[in-house]
Parts: sequence; structure tokens; C-alpha cells
Amino acid sequence: MYLKEEGKIWLATGDEKVYLEPSMANRHGLIAGATGTGKTVTLKVIAESFSELGIPVFLADIKGDISGMCEPGVENKHIKRSIDTMGIENFNYTSYPVRFFDVYGKLGHPVRTTISDMGPELLARLLGLNDTQSGVLRIIFRIADDKQLLLIDLKDLRSMLQHVGDNAADYKLTYGNVSAQSIGAIQRALLTLEDEGGDLFFGEPNLDIRDWFEWAEDGRGMMNILECQELFQHPLLYSTFLLWMLSELYEMLPEAGDLDKPKIAFFFDEAHLLFNNAPKALLEKVEQVVRLIRSKGVSVWFITQNPSDIPESVLGQLGSRVQHALRAYTPNEQKAIRYAARSFRTNPNFDTERVLQELAVGEALVSVLDIKGVPTIVERANILPPKSSMASVEPDVISKVVAASPLYVKYNSALDRESAYELLNEQREKEAKEKAEAEAAAQKEKEKKEKEKEKEKAAKKKATKKRQSALGKAASSAANSFGREIGKSIFRGLFGTRR
Ligand SMILES: Nc1ncnc2c1ncn2[C@@H]1O[C@H](COP(=O)(O)OP(=O)(O)O)[C@@H](O)[C@H]1O
Ligand SMILES: [Mg+2]
Repeated sequence: MYLKEEGKIWLATGDEKVYLEPSMANRHGLIAGATGTGKTVTLKVIAESFSELGIPVFLADIKGDISGMCEPGVENKHIKRSIDTMGIENFNYTSYPVRFFDVYGKLGHPVRTTISDMGPELLARLLGLNDTQSGVLRIIFRIADDKQLLLIDLKDLRSMLQHVGDNAADYKLTYGNVSAQSIGAIQRALLTLEDEGGDLFFGEPNLDIRDWFEWAEDGRGMMNILECQELFQHPLLYSTFLLWMLSELYEMLPEAGDLDKPKIAFFFDEAHLLFNNAPKALLEKVEQVVRLIRSKGVSVWFITQNPSDIPESVLGQLGSRVQHALRAYTPNEQKAIRYAARSFRTNPNFDTERVLQELAVGEALVSVLDIKGVPTIVERANILPPKSSMASVEPDVISKVVAASPLYVKYNSALDRESAYELLNEQREKEAKEKAEAEAAAQKEKEKKEKEKEKEKAAKKKATKKRQSALGKAASSAANSFGREIGKSIFRGLFGTRR
């Protein structure tokens, strides 16, 4: 175990050993560095220690090199040298308890959410909508929420769009203007999302974040690994999806105050994607969630090439920093290096900016928070080797893990329960039927009219009355069927996701 007696996490060794204080882990962390400098290995070493402390972990596996955590590492000369030079006693190659998830359902339990759960804010970002279109999407959600109408998948959203578009005049007074143009734009964006596999992503059973809180029999925290090689081909889908998971955690967990260790650790790889071209309002919300989720006992780690990829307001909240080597070929890169160097408390023994460019693979500049929450002076240190495999595992190994998991039955069959699409269809059919009946009645009356000219006036009055009551009936039956479906009010959280 890389754990000192008091339960500290031994992370790296330089002139001094560097320990991560678990009670400070909810002050979040940053792992940065150029490609191939050791970020993923550092992430694994930290995740392994968390697991050993009994903390469940969530990790996104973008290159497939995280999946190896389900197998013990194999000896190589680099690791052997690390073990010797760092004086690691009782080093043992070992596997960790893992669960695999995959949005596409191929390399893990399928992960889905409903449109209603995701909410208008994240969906607007996912669809690349402009301000006007986002406003219309918000109206669509408000109408659906008010009707207590559950939008499960993309076809539900499409029928809801059509319904609101068709009845825009009726909704205008209460909800505001919904232009046919915006509806059309959203519908087109939905088609693009569908091409990217978004139809797989939205549906049921939706992921219950509580399933991440699992422990192996020996008490080690579960490694919940999201296999993302395919998802990552669609960076916006990837980043929105992870953000949704983070906001689910935020909404689900109660306030916890100061804990001796976090309840869960969340690793956000390729974190720069979250902030690329993100609207200001979204950035503010990310910043807010990162700040507030701290007191719920969540440790969030951002992994990216350069600290300057992350907005200052978020960066300022990341207490622990592991900075691997950066390269400086262009003036922009030089600027980025100065920026990265300046974020550390300087060590009188070396020039941070120069060392940053000299670091070997697996070596890093490290600063953590001490027991009082003060950032330590930056140390040049070697990160400890991971105990699990650094290679990726074969798909059939993953399949076996998935099949053996108690979550298999829960997630590995898609549901399509009655939702907005079906209900709106039903309503449309009902309306068509009622219209046909009304027309038939009118026809009958017409015939009557010809027969009984003198009763013409009375018959007319009756027909009007009948139509009015038919309309009233349709409205109330619609309300009933919506109400039946979900039967409770929808509350939306910080990101507009459903609570
Ligand atoms: N702490 C370490 N101990 C031993 N080997 C390491 C360490 N860090 C990195 N390496 C080696 O460097 C390679 C690249 O590291 P990786 O973490 O995948 O880089 P990055 O994620 O920054 O692209 C690894 O496959 C491994 O062989
Ligand atoms: Mg990597």
C-alpha cells in the first residue's frame, strides 16, 4: 500500500516524499503535461490509492489504457528501477475491482439518460444551438415539465417539438414566442446528433449514479470506468456527457461538510474539451459546480495538456497539482509554460520554468495542499509506478467483467416505456377520431336540416354546444394521460438537469 500510517497517500518522491492528504482531496486536482509524459499513469496511481482507501472512483478511458486496471501489472525494467530507487517496500502487482460502462454498450454496461433528465442547458450545448434556439428549447422543456410529460428519447423530443410547433399560437401567451424557424433548426440539429449515435445515448434504463458507490469484498473502492474510445470521436458528446455525470453527482449527494476523505473521486480526462467554445453561462455553472461539489465530498481531477486550457476561475480551485513536462517550440507555448510555472509556490532550489521543460517521463512538478489547506512548495519528483497493468485489455476480458457484474441485468436491456412520443401519438389519434366524429355529426345534422327546415335554428345551437364540450373533453383527457405518466413535478438543478 502506498499509504503512510496516518492514511496519507504516497504519490511521488523527489528530495522529499510527497504525500496527498485525503482530507484535502475534495479541494480537487490537476494533472497536466504534454502527450506521453505520464499523465495517465499518474491518474492511475492516484485512483489506485483512492480505491485502497475505500473511495470509489470514476474514470473516463479515452485511449483504452485505463482498462488494464482489472489486471495486475507486469514487471518491466522502469518499474523495477523505480521500486529500487524510491525504496518501495512490499510492492505487489495487483488488479483492482472494476466496472465497465460504455455509452455504445459495446465495452461496458450501456449508459443512458433521458432527455428530461439531461435538461435544456446541456442539450442546447450538445445540439450547438444559438441563443434564440436555446431559448425555444427551454420553452419546450418548460411546457413538457408543466404537463409532467416525460421526454425519454430523441423521438419524444421530436414529437414534442412538433406538438409545440403546431400549437405555437396557443402556447404563445403563457410561454412566449416559438418560431417555426427555430423549431426547424432544432429538428435539424437532432438529426446530426442522431447520426453521432445520440439516439443510443438517450433512453432507459437511465444510469443511476448511486451504482458507482460500490466496494469490493476487501473494502477497496470500485473503479467505474467509462470506455470512451468511440465516444471520444465526438468530443462534444463526450464532454457534455461527463458534465452531465458530474452534475448528477452534485444533485444526488447531500452536503457533507469536512470529511477525512472524499466519498468519491471523479477524473475528467481531456478536460479542455469541456471549455472549448463553451458559452459564458455554462462556464459559470461549471465553476459553480466545481466549487460547491467540494462540500459534498467529491474529489474532481482535471487532466489536460496545459493548465492554460482551463479557465482561471476553475484552475484557481484545484488544490493539488501534478505538472508533467511541457514543450516550448512556439511563442504561445512559451507563454503557456510561464503561466504554468507561475501557478506554483516557488522552490528556492530550482527554476520552475526551466525544470518544467526538462522533466523526464514519469517525473513531475508536484504541489499539494497540506493539512491546513496551504499549497506546499513545488517539488520535483518521480511519480510512483502503478500496480495494475498499464496496457489495455482485450475486449473479451471486458465482456467477462461486464457479464459477471450484478449491474448486467439492470442495464443491458433497453426499455421503451410509454413516453411523450407514444402519448402525443395517442392524443393525435384521439383528436383525429374526435374530429371525424364531429364531422359525421355535422353531416347528420345537415341531413336533418334539410328534413326539418323549421327546426334549423335549434339544431345549430345544439351542434355548437356539442363541439365545445368535445374540445373540453380532449383537453382534460390529455392532461390526465400526461399526469399519469410521471405524476410528479419536475425540479431542475444547477445545470437544468432533473433532480
Ligand atoms: N510513473 C511512471 N512509472 C513508470 N512508467 C511510467 C510512469 N509514467 C509514465 N510512464 C511510461 O510512459 C508511458 C506514457 O505515459 P502516459 O501516462 O500514457 O502519458 P500521457 O497520458 O501523458 O500521454 C507509459 O506507457 C509508461 O510506459
Ligand atoms: Mg494519456
